[in-house]
Amino acid sequence: MRFEVLNRAEKCSARTGLLETYHGIVKTPVFMPVGTQATVKTMTSEELEQIGAKIILSNTYHLYLRPGHKLIEEAGGLHKFMNWKGSILTDSGGYQVFSLGELREIKEEGVTFRSHIDGSLHFISPEMSIEIQNSIGADIIMAFDECIPYPATYEYAKNSVERTTRWAERCKKHHKRNDQALFGIVQGGLYRDLREKSAKDLVAMDFEGYAVGGLSVGEPKECMYEVLDYVVPLLPEEKPRYLMGVGSPDSIFEGIQRGIDMFDCVLPTRIARHGTVFTARGKLVVRNATYARDFSPLDPECDCYVCKNYTRAYIRHLLNAGEILGLRLTTYHNLYFLLRLVEKIREAIEGDYFLDLKEEFFSKYGYR
Ligand code: GUN
Ligand code: ZN
Repeated sequence: MRFEVLNRAEKCSARTGLLETYHGIVKTPVFMPVGTQATVKTMTSEELEQIGAKIILSNTYHLYLRPGHKLIEEAGGLHKFMNWKGSILTDSGGYQVFSLGELREIKEEGVTFRSHIDGSLHFISPEMSIEIQNSIGADIIMAFDECIPYPATYEYAKNSVERTTRWAERCKKHHKRNDQALFGIVQGGLYRDLREKSAKDLVAMDFEGYAVGGLSVGEPKECMYEVLDYVVPLLPEEKPRYLMGVGSPDSIFEGIQRGIDMFDCVLPTRIARHGTVFTARGKLVVRNATYARDFSPLDPECDCYVCKNYTRAYIRHLLNAGEILGLRLTTYHNLYFLLRLVEKIREAIEGDYFLDLKEEFFSKYGYR
């Protein structure tokens, strides 16, 4: 993997860059659609390509449990298995184990948990997470971490983040493939000294990129931005910075303004399946009766395939009738909307009018 910063904004920390993997060049800042189970729900790989996605995220935890990483290795890796020609990043499982797995036990060696699928008992260590991610074969893999819940006591957060740092060291030591880039994950909850220590220790280990984890776990957004304000400046300028699990339009603007290069989030695809779509004028619940006779597109300002060809009334009908096409159309539009927004942001950083674009966007979209 190669990363290069191309443009820096004058009045804030926003920047553009190029991230090059074996599966192509990714312009940053970038939003990564989430393909948890080796599919971005409802989207074919060709459709993802059509809307300009260059990198997607998948989950070690899910693929390890089903269909199994060895099966994916047999298929020739995840790219081949799902016929995705772009880049892939896999999360380490050190988040899903805690959010989905039941009856977990965290020890220094690793985590014991029960599968959310069949209740079977499993154990994952940092070394195993790396091996599983090696089998899956993503271009970028993540260190095995514990995402500290919110709220957490100082004592809990301190013990947890110190263990995450030791786990990061074990991941680094165990990762021997040079065709996969390994990123470290900064944790520490909302405690500044813990976050700073985490960042410094991980930077000393020289990862190929750095993620900020443990955010968007229920804390007020201002707290998240405050953490970014003091953590991002501690990360190396010449390496990619990834804000995990964040992908609302407002948080993307705020993250980029503070120097973040990469984002992922289930939000656009999840709300789409519940009948909510992004528009230039804010979110719209197309499932509502208000749109029964609205024969305009989801977002009149959007030039995606869905907005060019289908109406709110039709999509509302599909969703209400439980038709699969409804989910496909809202998902397609939401991903297009977000990818296009991040593209506009990149253009704004290049032209040094990022803060103006942000103001213009929110004056129409509404903040939050
Ligand atoms: N996704 C969202 N937050 C996190 C985090 O803190 N750690 C990991 N591994 N994945 C995440
Ligand atoms: Zn659209």
